[in-house]
Parts: sequence; C-alpha cells; structure tokens
Amino acid sequence: MKAVILASGEGTNAENIVSFFQNKKECLEVLGIISDKAGSGVLERAKGWDIPTALIEKKSMKRSMHEREIYRQVKEWGGHWLLLAGYMRILGPHFISRFYDEKRGHSRIINIHPSLLPSFRGLRAYERAFEAKAPFSGVSVHFVDEGMDTGQLILQKKFNRLQEDSFEDFKKRGQHLEHIAYIEAIFKVLKGDYR
Ligand code: GAR
Repeated sequence: MKAVILASGEGTNAENIVSFFQNKKECLEVLGIISDKAGSGVLERAKGWDIPTALIEKKSMKRSMHEREIYRQVKEWGGHWLLLAGYMRILGPHFISRFYDEKRGHSRIINIHPSLLPSFRGLRAYERAFEAKAPFSGVSVHFVDEGMDTGQLILQKKFNRLQEDSFEDFKKRGQHLEHIAYIEAIFKVLKGDYR
C-alpha cells in the first residue's frame, strides 16, 4: 500500500501508523502527511519523521478547490491510498470517486472513528458516547463513502466504560484501542479479509 495520511489534530494515530510500518514498507509505505491545520500536533510530531509533509489549509477556498490541492499533492507523492487519522472534514463525492476501486467495490480511503458506528456519527463522538452513559463504547475503522461515517466497516473494537471513569479515562482507553484497531484494520485490508 502506498499511502498518504490526512490529519487535522494531535497526530497520535498518524504517529502510530508511521512508527509501526517504518520497517515494513513492503506492507505499507507512508509517502507523506497532509494537514489542513497550521500548527497542528501532527505537523509538529512529523518533524521527527523522515517523511514529507504538506500544510493545505482550506481558508476561503471552496471545498472542491481545497480537495483539488490535496489530490494534486497525493498524486505528486505517488499515493494510491488515503488514511484519515483525525481528519476533521467531510470529503466531497468527486474527491472520493477519484479513489474508488472498481475491483474492490469501495474507495481506497480508510477512516477511524471513535465510536461503535452507526452510533455517534460525526463530531465529538467520545463526548457524546460518554454523556450517553452506555456501559461500553468502541472504535470503528471503515472505508469512506459519500455519507458521514457510513462507509463499509473493516473492524470494530469495544471497550468498557467503568463507573468511576472520568471523561479523560474513558477517552484514553478508547484512543489506546484506536491505535491497535487501525493497524489490525490495515492488515485486514492487505489480506482482503473484511467482507
Ligand atoms: C481520534 O480520536 C480519531 O478517532 C478522531 O479524532 C482523533 C484524532 O486523534 N477522529 C474523528 O473524530 C473523525 N470523525 P489523533 O490526532 O491523536 O490521531
């Protein structure tokens, strides 16, 4: 897999993927990191990696223009796959269609979402799951389609919410699981083991 990571935030998922695959490039090679947020944690972290980065801010650009810039950069680096790791924008149908894989029947864009989809689609998923006081929550890795967090699931992992959990405890447990889930999901995709 020749992949580009798109991230807006802290970058822990990106870091986890980069460090896991740095000596397994025959499985997955991260060709570059794109962030839409100046000063984001992911760009700071990436200074320590030997991987090119690009800041592509949306600012007053139309979504289609912004995505054209992203696409141009991904192609310049030779990327075929996109790994969304805390990328906080919804991608437009035209952009997604450029990564559609006819043979596989889905896009070559993977996303991680911090809930057991279809529960808590969209933003602030940890917050909403915690507020809902469910006895467990989870994380989902899925292919991206035109909907919001609606694409085909690759895998999900569940974690318990303990009674004494603060929101920080709860989120920390979830994020630890995200890191395990993303790597496992990538291997499932490599093996075609997700149908
Ligand atoms: C992660 O919790 C990820 O699941 C979430 O953003 C966080 C990014 O953390 N993504 C979404 O909510 C997507 N809708 P990170 O920057 O440390 O990887």
